[in-house]
Amino acid sequence: MRTKLIITLFTLIVSLPTNVIGKDHSKKFHPGALWPDNKGIHINAHGGGILYYKRTYYWFGEYKSDTTSAAMVGVTCYSSKNLLDWTNRGVALSVSDDENSDIAKGCVLERPKVVYNQKTKKFVMWFHLELKGNGYSAARYGVATSNVVTGPYHFLCSGRVNPNVYPINFSKDDSISIRNQYSNLISLKWWTPEWYDAIKKGLFMFRDLPGGQMARDQTIFVDDDNKAYHIYSSEDNLTLQVAELSDDYTSHTGKYARIAPSNMNEAPAIFKKDGIYWMITSGCTGWDPNEARMFMARHIMGPWTQLPNPCIGAESKITFGGQSTYILRVEGKKNAYIFMADIWRPKHPSDARYIWLPIDFKAGRPVIQWRSEWQLDYLNK
Ligand code: DGJ
Repeated sequence: MRTKLIITLFTLIVSLPTNVIGKDHSKKFHPGALWPDNKGIHINAHGGGILYYKRTYYWFGEYKSDTTSAAMVGVTCYSSKNLLDWTNRGVALSVSDDENSDIAKGCVLERPKVVYNQKTKKFVMWFHLELKGNGYSAARYGVATSNVVTGPYHFLCSGRVNPNVYPINFSKDDSISIRNQYSNLISLKWWTPEWYDAIKKGLFMFRDLPGGQMARDQTIFVDDDNKAYHIYSSEDNLTLQVAELSDDYTSHTGKYARIAPSNMNEAPAIFKKDGIYWMITSGCTGWDPNEARMFMARHIMGPWTQLPNPCIGAESKITFGGQSTYILRVEGKKNAYIFMADIWRPKHPSDARYIWLPIDFKAGRPVIQWRSEWQLDYLNK
C-alpha cells in the first residue's frame, strides 16, 4: 500500500508541467523566468557579464538584496560548462565593513565585468561605483583584481576617467569656443536647443576635465589584439565614452573618444564580428525598460554610426522588458552570440530576472527576437 502511494506520488511529480515545479533550465533557456542555481536558488548576479576561462564560463554580477538596490554583499560569481546549469561560487568581491572604504557596505556597485590579463595572469574586475550616501553623484569606475578567477577580488582603486585629458575626437575649434563662452554655456537651461548644441560640442566633458570624466553604466571589451577598452556612460549620462586601458588592464592610458554626444545612452554591451564592432545600449529611464539602440563602428574609437533598434516583434520597443548588460560570444560555435539583459525589479531587487536571447543576423545586422524558451543548439545553424 505504502509503495503504491510512493509510486503514485512520484509519477505525479514527474508528470507535473515544468512551470509548476520550476522551468527546467538544464535543457533550455527561459528568458524572464526564475533561474535556479545548483542549490535551487534564483541566480543572484544582476547587471553582469561572463568570462570564459579554461573551458568554463564564469558569470559575475551584482548581488541584489530583497529590499534595496544598494550593495550590501558585493559581486557574486557562478560557473558553468554549458551556460544553462550554474554553480554558485560565492562572493567574488565583498563590500567593506569599513565606513571609510570606497566600497563601504551600502554603496552602489553596479555592472561588474571581469577580464583576464594574459601578461599579468590576473583577473581584473571593473564596475560602476557610487560612494555610500551620495546617490549617483560620484560617477566613478572601480577596479579590483584577483589571482584566482572566482576571487576573492581585492579592491584596487576608484575614480573618474582621464583627468585633464581631452578626447581624441574633439576639435580644437570647439575647445576654444567652449573655453571662451564657458560661463554663459554652463548656465544655459537644460534640454533647450542651445544647451543640446553645447553638450554635443563637449560642454560637460570640458566641465569635468579637472576631476576626470564621469563613469556610470559600463562594460569592458578585450579586442583581438588583447587591448582592452572601458565603455561607459559619461557627461551626466548624455554621452558615451570609450577609453583604452593600460596593458595590465587596471588603469586608463589617456586615449579616449566620445560616442553619440547628447544621445543619452546607458547599459552598453559590445561584441565584434568580422572586424565590425556592434554595440547595443538603452536610453536612460532609471529601472524602467525602454527601446534598445544599436551602433556599429569599424574602429573601436569610432566613428560610431547609429542603426535601428535590433529588437523585433512584440515588446521590442521596451527591449522585452529588459535592459542590456552584456553580449556573450559562445565558444566553439561560429557567429554565436547571446544578448543578455536584466528585467529590473526595484521594489524587490533580488527578484530581478534575466533575458538571454540568441542574436540572429539579417542582411548582416544583428537582430534579436523574443523566445519564451530556446536551446543552445539554435546557435549551430
Ligand atoms: C539604469 C542603469 O542601467 C542601472 O544599472 C542602474 O544604474 C539604474 N539606472 C538606476 O536607476
